[in-house]
Amino acid sequence: MDAISVIRTKRDRGRLSDEQIDWVIDAYTRGAVADEQMSALAMAILLNGMDRAEIARWTAAMIASGERMDFSALSRPTADKHSTGGVGDKITLPLAPLVAACGAAVPQLSGRGLGHTGGTLDKLEAIPGWRASLSGAEMMAVLGEVGAVVCAAGDGLAPADKKLYALRDVTGTVESIPLIASSIMSKKIAEGTGSLVLDVKVGSGAFMKSLDDARELAATMVGLGTDHGVRTVALLTDMSVPLGLTAGNALEVRESVEVLAGGGPADVVELTLALAREMLAAAGLPDADPAKALADGSAMDVWRRMIRAQGGDPDAPLPVARETHTVLAPASGTLTRLDAYAVGVAAWRLGAGRARKEDSVQPGAGVVLHAKPGDPVQAGTPLLTLHTDTPEKFASAEEALTDAFTVSPAGTSFTPGPLLLDR
Ligand code: URA
Repeated sequence: MDAISVIRTKRDRGRLSDEQIDWVIDAYTRGAVADEQMSALAMAILLNGMDRAEIARWTAAMIASGERMDFSALSRPTADKHSTGGVGDKITLPLAPLVAACGAAVPQLSGRGLGHTGGTLDKLEAIPGWRASLSGAEMMAVLGEVGAVVCAAGDGLAPADKKLYALRDVTGTVESIPLIASSIMSKKIAEGTGSLVLDVKVGSGAFMKSLDDARELAATMVGLGTDHGVRTVALLTDMSVPLGLTAGNALEVRESVEVLAGGGPADVVELTLALAREMLAAAGLPDADPAKALADGSAMDVWRRMIRAQGGDPDAPLPVARETHTVLAPASGTLTRLDAYAVGVAAWRLGAGRARKEDSVQPGAGVVLHAKPGDPVQAGTPLLTLHTDTPEKFASAEEALTDAFTVSPAGTSFTPGPLLLDR
């Protein structure tokens, strides 16, 4: 077997055989297939696709490239959630302790933000002392004692995906349904969760801009999970508008704590509860009541224990950016559009995200929204507040927001679209 014949097969719109897939993933992981060869193959896959059987074999080969975790010794059923990424998507923060408070164990291996989308680990690292890297034994201990753990995946889990994702990121080959589905599901299946709820985002702030593409991605991932014995459900949810009223690390932690305290923005609460119900049903706990666990403080108790178990201080003041700048509403009327992608790019440029993997993030940076689509606004009053430690970044953040919103004349009939688009 050689890399060139595998690349030619896909370049010429052929089907990769099981042997070709097994060989190329193993050889790439070992360094016997070069990055430039794998990037040519990734581009051929992006352009010519893979059928379901090829995607299933590709995913299985990526799982086999590393170790698998095993939670069968836990007394509780396991449930995990994965979002395909968005702006202001802090849902994992209230969701993991909430689902644990209702009786499931939540092993949440999470990632960092890259580009305009935020990452759960960057958000939690805004909490003084909190540690994302745990050994396998530490992870199991937190999961057993607290019921929920949010941490970085170890290097041994799907190492083929680690290499391939970094390569795709710099070769314009991220936006491929077979490659996204196999990347996400290889990690989730290797992680060993018993059930998985996928939050597939649709809209300007998401990878999938159209409902049809999001549906195909969701169906592909649900099929992969089910074939590997993981009870898998997908919700398609709107990402044309940022979730909640904040985008940025410490800002989103503060908003998540508000949700755990029984308050917080309506859309964040709605999505947290919808995902919690799906996770609990998939874990075999359909009678658990997540709304009650939010209201009676039990989810907040788990949050505090979860943060402490990873070295964090849940009572410590969160970092605040040194400088703020307010963007004013240009006219009076009704806000009828607030573009998630533009807000995500602004938060990223202010320092909430990173341009390269090795960059650090500013914990206090980001954007606070003072109105959401459907709200009335007054000319000259604050629409957005930009936060950063580096005020020279305000100009490029404002540039990203040039066409980010529409204020329509008062009385314009406008109903915000639904958050939950399909299941
Ligand atoms: N997240 C992943 O883990 N992989 C992808 O390919 C895209 C998003």
